[in-house]
Amino acid sequence: MKLWGGRFTKQTNELVEEFTASIPFDYQLWEEDIVGSLAHIQMLGKCGIIDNNEVKQIIDGLHQVYEGIQEEKYTFTIENEDIHMNIEKMLREEIGPLAGKLHTGRSRNDQVALDLHLYLRRKTLEVAEQTLLLQTALLNQAKNHLDTVMPGYTHMQRAQPVLLSHHLLAYVNMLQRDFERIQDNWKRINILPLGAGALAGTTFPIDREYVAGILHFDDVYRNSMDAVSDRDFLAEFLFQASLQAMHLSRLCEELVIWSSQEFSFIELDDAYCTGSSIMPQKKNPDVAELIRGKTGRVYGHLMGMLTILKGLPLTYNKDMQDDKEGMFDTLTTLKGALTILAPMIESMHVNQAEMKKAVTHDFANATDLADYLVRINIPFREAHEIVGKAVLYCITKNKFLSDLSIEEFKQFSPLIESNVYHALEVETVVNARNVLGGTARNQVELQLDILQKWIETNKDWVHKHKKQTQLSNWLPRHS
Ligand code: ARG
Repeated sequence: MKLWGGRFTKQTNELVEEFTASIPFDYQLWEEDIVGSLAHIQMLGKCGIIDNNEVKQIIDGLHQVYEGIQEEKYTFTIENEDIHMNIEKMLREEIGPLAGKLHTGRSRNDQVALDLHLYLRRKTLEVAEQTLLLQTALLNQAKNHLDTVMPGYTHMQRAQPVLLSHHLLAYVNMLQRDFERIQDNWKRINILPLGAGALAGTTFPIDREYVAGILHFDDVYRNSMDAVSDRDFLAEFLFQASLQAMHLSRLCEELVIWSSQEFSFIELDDAYCTGSSIMPQKKNPDVAELIRGKTGRVYGHLMGMLTILKGLPLTYNKDMQDDKEGMFDTLTTLKGALTILAPMIESMHVNQAEMKKAVTHDFANATDLADYLVRINIPFREAHEIVGKAVLYCITKNKFLSDLSIEEFKQFSPLIESNVYHALEVETVVNARNVLGGTARNQVELQLDILQKWIETNKDWVHKHKKQTQLSNWLPRHS
């Protein structure tokens, strides 16, 4: 007998049962579902809607169900459709027909929305925490490489020398925005939908703010129809995840390129690479490649969610049941990528000599020769032209700019003096970019310091919210 079987005269077709069930994936919400029910039943008792003695029995029953699931006493079944009805059935096994009172003043529509809000707020904190760990790994490498110069690229062509630290900190800044997007998303995740009923509210004198208080929500949805039909908070999460996955993908792309024999800028630790079954010499950066590849599925889940929502009239529609698998998969994918990237970055070996060679055996200091001419009062456009000719000359002579004799320099501009050699040295070139956000060592050190402090402050943010949302706040013996 279905929990909703009263109106029906026939059994559900088996295929329909299988097709419409969400339990194969929404079982993952089981703890949140019990937590939500515990808060709901306490409120029903406090508002005098259900007798306190019965409330106590239901709470005990829910605790037993919780332990029963943990001890694998229960299995989830397709006949019971989804996590909400599976748990209600288990409660009935524990305490009999009294279990039927739990659903007073509630619908599965506001119940599932609550489960999603509870789940996502807990899981996005895990993503936030892993983000800080990856930032820390990048920051540690940046600290070690304040003297390591490498070519910065545009169009994938060597452009100007930069510190490796500067390059790595660019990713720390990207991840900072990712983190802040999670914090912003969190404001809309941490709102209570329960109490919306099926769509219009409920006839019982419930106290939604009381439930919000128990569950540490910052606010309650102000419109019951919005509460059950809103999945913006989830779409936002998928967008944030997509951007973050893209950032990780770009980082991984660089790791793949840098570890190629052609570049030889870095060597990834053996523990984070795999070999080939046929070519004995191979050491492949599979992890980086996979992270790059998995970006596709995260984008797919965002597009899937947006598409599900676009044609839905208010309020709940069954289409929305398909919001979950993409969310679960995105969380697993993103958290997995962040978790493995941190130690991979931490353990990567940097080939400073190769990086330096790529800078010195190059024209990456050409802009600096132009800037030198500007400082002796030649207009930049003219200076650009002069240096262009000097580069062309060097190419025909198989030389670099610093190899030119002072006589050769003077052919291009008689104003050039021997202090030009100092101006063209790598360290001079790097440290000359002494503007806020530039690659000069002292500027990079300044940003390093700021980011280090930012990470520390935000560790506190994560810990504070983790404490507030951990399941052991509501569940007995939660492991
Ligand atoms: N399993 C459903 C879902 O995930 C729960 C809500 C069902 N509500 C309903 N009226 N059928 O969306």
